[in-house]
Formats: sequence, C-alpha cells, structure tokens
Amino acid sequence: MIFDFEKLVRYHFGVFAFTGGGKSNLMSNILRRILLHTENTKVIIFDISCEYVFLLLDILADPNTAAKVILEHRIDSLEQFFNSVVKPREYEADERIKAGLQRIMEQGKVAYYIRPKQKVPTYSQFMDELENQRKGSVDRPHYMNAIDKIHDAILEYMEKNGLSENQEVNEDFVRYIDKVAAETVEELKVSPKSGLYAWATTRNTILDRIKRKHEEEQKETDALTVDKIREILEDKARIVCISISDPFIIKELVINLTQDLLARRKRKFKVKPYILFVFDEAQEFIPELSGSVGIDKKCSKQVETLLRQGRKYGLGACIATQRVAYLNTNALQQLHTYFVGTLPRPYDRALISDTFMIDKGILEKTLEFAPGEWLLSSYIATGIENVPIFIKADNAENEIEKYLKNNA
Ligand SMILES: Nc1ncnc2c1ncn2[C@@H]1O[C@H](COP(=O)(O)OP(=O)(O)O)[C@@H](O)[C@H]1O
Ligand SMILES: [Mg+2]
Repeated sequence: MIFDFEKLVRYHFGVFAFTGGGKSNLMSNILRRILLHTENTKVIIFDISCEYVFLLLDILADPNTAAKVILEHRIDSLEQFFNSVVKPREYEADERIKAGLQRIMEQGKVAYYIRPKQKVPTYSQFMDELENQRKGSVDRPHYMNAIDKIHDAILEYMEKNGLSENQEVNEDFVRYIDKVAAETVEELKVSPKSGLYAWATTRNTILDRIKRKHEEEQKETDALTVDKIREILEDKARIVCISISDPFIIKELVINLTQDLLARRKRKFKVKPYILFVFDEAQEFIPELSGSVGIDKKCSKQVETLLRQGRKYGLGACIATQRVAYLNTNALQQLHTYFVGTLPRPYDRALISDTFMIDKGILEKTLEFAPGEWLLSSYIATGIENVPIFIKADNAENEIEKYLKNNA
C-alpha cells in the first residue's frame, strides 16, 4: 500500500477494532514509516498502556533518531525500565529487549514528568488576579483605567513574545509588568492605601517562586515540566513517547501540551514541521461529552479542538479505540482516513457506517478478519473516495524481532 504519509498526518486518521485486533501494532507500523519516509514530521504518542517503547524499540534506540521517552517516575536502573515497558506475551521475559532499552538510556533519551510544585501563576491566572481588582474599584473610573492599561500591557507582552495563556509567567515578564503597573498607578493617582496599589507594587513572591523553581529544575535534569516537553518536541526530538499509565496525569499533559502547541502555531502562523499526536486507547482521551465530567470532559473538548483546528496549522492526530460508541462524535467526524478491523458489537459498526458512510454489508465482513486485516477508507490519502479497500498489515513484531536478532 502506497501512502501519502504527509496527507495521512495532516488529515487525521483512526483505527478501530476490538482488543487484540492489532490496533497498536498497526499504529506503530504507520508511525515507523512516517518517521522513516517523511523529511521532518514529528510524532508525540500519548501511550497510556505503555506499549510503544517495545513496539518502536528499533526507532527509539537508533542513534540517528532524536527521541525522548517520558515516564511517570524516575527510573534508576535498566531493570526498572524493563519492568515499566509492556510487552506482548511472547516477549514478556525476553532479555534481548534489555540491550535495546540500555541503548535508549545511554543516549539520554529517558526522562520523567514532574508536575509543577512551586505555584508560579500562568498568564491567565495573572490576568484573573488583575481582573479581581475591578471589584472594589467600580466607582472609581481612574482605577478602571489603570486596570485596563495594565491589562493591555500584559496582552501586548504575550503577543510580542508568542506566549500562551496557560504558560507560567517568567522573570522577564514579572519585571516588565512590575514597572508598568507601578508607573500606571502613580500616573493615574491610585491611592497608595488601595488594594489595587498594593497589588500593583508587590511582585516579590512571584519572583521568589520562579527562582526556586529554576533551582529545582537544575537539580533534576531528567525531570521535565510541560514547558520542557513542548520545547523538546518543537526543537530537537522527532519522536516523544509519553508512557504514563496514570489517567489523570496523562490527561493533564494532553490538555496542556495540545493547548500550548496549537496556540503557538496560531500566533506564529506556522504549519511546519508537521506534528502527529497519537491517542491510543482514545476512549480515555476523547470520551463522549454528555457522559463525562471534570478533567475527562476538558480533555475531550481539547482534543476535539485540536482535531478541528490543527489541520490548518500542521498538527495532525490519530486515534485508536475498541469502543467507537464511547467516543466524542464531533471528534470522530474530523477523521479523513480510517482503518476498520473486527468490531463485534453491532452498535459500533452502525456508528462507523453512519459517520463515514460505509456500507453496512461491507462492515459485516470485518467479523471474519484476523488481527492485522483491515478495511481502509480514505478521502485523501489513497485518492479513492469512500470505497473501502482490504489490506493486510505487516506484523510490527517482525520488525522488532529483526532488531532483537541483530542487536542482542
Ligand atoms: N499485522 C499483524 N499480523 C499478525 N499478527 C498481528 C498483527 N497485528 C497484531 N497482531 C497480533 O495481535 C496481537 C494484538 O495486537 P495489538 O496491536 O496489541 O492489538 P490491540 O491494540 O488492537 O489490542 C499482537 O500481539 C500480535 O500477536
Ligand atoms: Mg492496543
């Protein structure tokens, strides 16, 4: 099968089959080819089942591929790394894998995620604080003017420096806004006894927190914040694999990373390099909106936004799931290419049939499929419209087996 991988990335794709149908296997195969056969397309995998370090072992261990594996905790030994990686049953005790993992470690490609401890406010929190000052100032137009002026200065700074709302404020910003705020309250004769004056002239706690945070980050170089992960993806890495099984933590990362990357692309009018966001077990990340609350809902909405808007900015997404019925349908409708394997539940087949206008009779045939057999339909990547074709995918494990044989 000849693919236009660039289009596959830009126009989003989906992989649907029951558990064991070969979704992750196919996904890893496609990712390997994207990395090998496109110039500079980048890939970020949200690997909640922690399978992709094994499935892409050859790529991640290759010294020619700039890569980062991001785990939930710091690992101190090869043994720990080995244990944190999920492998297919036949490979569970395969010691040859360790040689590959060792190479990944030696190249400094393993890191772990740290959630911010010191509370440095984001730009949006900073602006909320300022907005709060309006409450006691409604009857004083010159206070309102001062607040407007500071507000505009913040926006101007963010725009000039390409910053997004949920990034943490930096030291340079704090010094800048400190000066602007102090000048503004003087100029507009805000009373030194007022809350607004106090707010405008005390920035020391924030500066302190920023400094302490920097010190902490220097101490632990493998510990990556959201901002660092984004930087790594934008600068050097071709592939970032986030193998974190804690649903809350990985969803929080999905929300922040997708929001930041999209906002930065918009601001810079950038389309390249293409970045492909991979959501395996997509029901975790884009659940149906009406049945979800809290971080689940937020994550689903955010990924939906990525799917809707990313295309314009070179940000593509692919999703794999066993239960289409549990998915946010708005997100599902954004896919231009899809692979359908065995879907035992009639409801899932009906939904696929309705969403993508595939004949129900053709979908019945998937019931006889073996792992690795797929119906492929694409408006874009194959140039054939709405006529699903049958494909047999290579088993990605063969690629890994080859690597293990040659490198043990
Ligand atoms: N293309 C393929 N050819 C042969 N066997 C496959 C293929 N894809 C998957 N398999 C087999 O099916 C098993 C499950 O695949 P996996 O990708 O983990 O499924 P899923 O992600 O859908 O649960 C694999 O361990 C492998 O043995
Ligand atoms: Mg899977």
